[in-house]
Amino acid sequence: MSRPQPRAGVLDIQAYVPGKSKAPGVAKIFKLSSNETPLGPSPRAIEAYRHQAEHLEDYPDGAASELREAIGRAFGLDPTRIVCGAGSDDLLNLLARAYLKDGDEAIHTKHGFLVYPIATLGTGATPIIAAEKDFTADVDAILAAVTEKTKLVFLANPNNPTGTYVPFDEVKRLHRGLSSHVLLVLDAAYAEYVRANDYESGIELVATSDNVVMTRTFSKIHGLAALRLGWMYGPAHVVDAVNRIRGPFNVNAPAIAAGIAAIEDVGHQERSREHNTRWLAWLTQEIGKLGLKVTPSVANFVLIHFPTEKGRTAHDADNFLTARGLILRQVGGYKLPHALRMSVGSEEANRLVVKALGEFLGSAR
Ligand SMILES: Cc1ncc(COP(=O)(O)O)c(C=O)c1O
Repeated sequence: MSRPQPRAGVLDIQAYVPGKSKAPGVAKIFKLSSNETPLGPSPRAIEAYRHQAEHLEDYPDGAASELREAIGRAFGLDPTRIVCGAGSDDLLNLLARAYLKDGDEAIHTKHGFLVYPIATLGTGATPIIAAEKDFTADVDAILAAVTEKTKLVFLANPNNPTGTYVPFDEVKRLHRGLSSHVLLVLDAAYAEYVRANDYESGIELVATSDNVVMTRTFSKIHGLAALRLGWMYGPAHVVDAVNRIRGPFNVNAPAIAAGIAAIEDVGHQERSREHNTRWLAWLTQEIGKLGLKVTPSVANFVLIHFPTEKGRTAHDADNFLTARGLILRQVGGYKLPHALRMSVGSEEANRLVVKALGEFLGSAR
């Protein structure tokens, strides 16, 4: 019997599996599986969100004009070159939909963010995987993967789940190596956390080229993941294309209100960044002292590598930690079966994980 068939590629998609949020039978849990901020959102964002509860019968401003203006002020950008989305996921999918079709190719790196192959396959195009070096995107490998079918390159910078980044010089070299008809999407979801001098989120490259887009999110440093809010900055012609296909009210009013308050609360962002800088270094050092390898991260999470011997694997560690209410992220789906990703949490959570890992490895301190 015939029945409706999804387009080619859809059934090849491995559905995205979000980080766990439950530990059955454990009274207090620490969710460190989705790179959420332990400081939560700005109190001003919460207040703005609450205020919107009085007006839920009204449609939001479909153009999110005030939010785009607030983002423009914060970064010195032309608001007409900004598009807001229901999370940066929304924008990544819209970019794929606007620029990919059956038979095209989109490149992402081996341990790149899993939304890229999902967005690509959803259009009927083929995801092409470029090798990484030391868990870091490799510009030469990306350029070597380019064919005449390549239409789009996704680069998470810094990348999730590795936490590594590509210096700006290298990003520029990547851009120079791409034909002008290939769209380079710089996904800078964790940009606010990066302290490295040779890092840039991509604003300059977008401003000076016709084929680069940068995406950002309110889910990480701004602590508004529940509201689903992201934005992109791109050339006018890309902005025009995305605006034509996005949902007319893709961003909701409470998200717009909270987003404006969040982007204006620079003090809260600074506190979140400082907390992260301090505890990222501490976790890297302390977990390293236990004898586990930690990939150097510039984001708000660390990738911890485990031995492969029975009883000490990432899977065993995950069970051990989960039983104590410490929920990290398995990253087998990212071709990292021997690692766990841990968000930088509160001081209490960070200390508990290090202590528990010490016990797990039989070297309680
Ligand atoms: C690299 C990267 N890009 C984009 C996102 C999507 O963020 P959101 O859709 O919440 O804005 C994430 C979320 O984990 C991410 O890690």
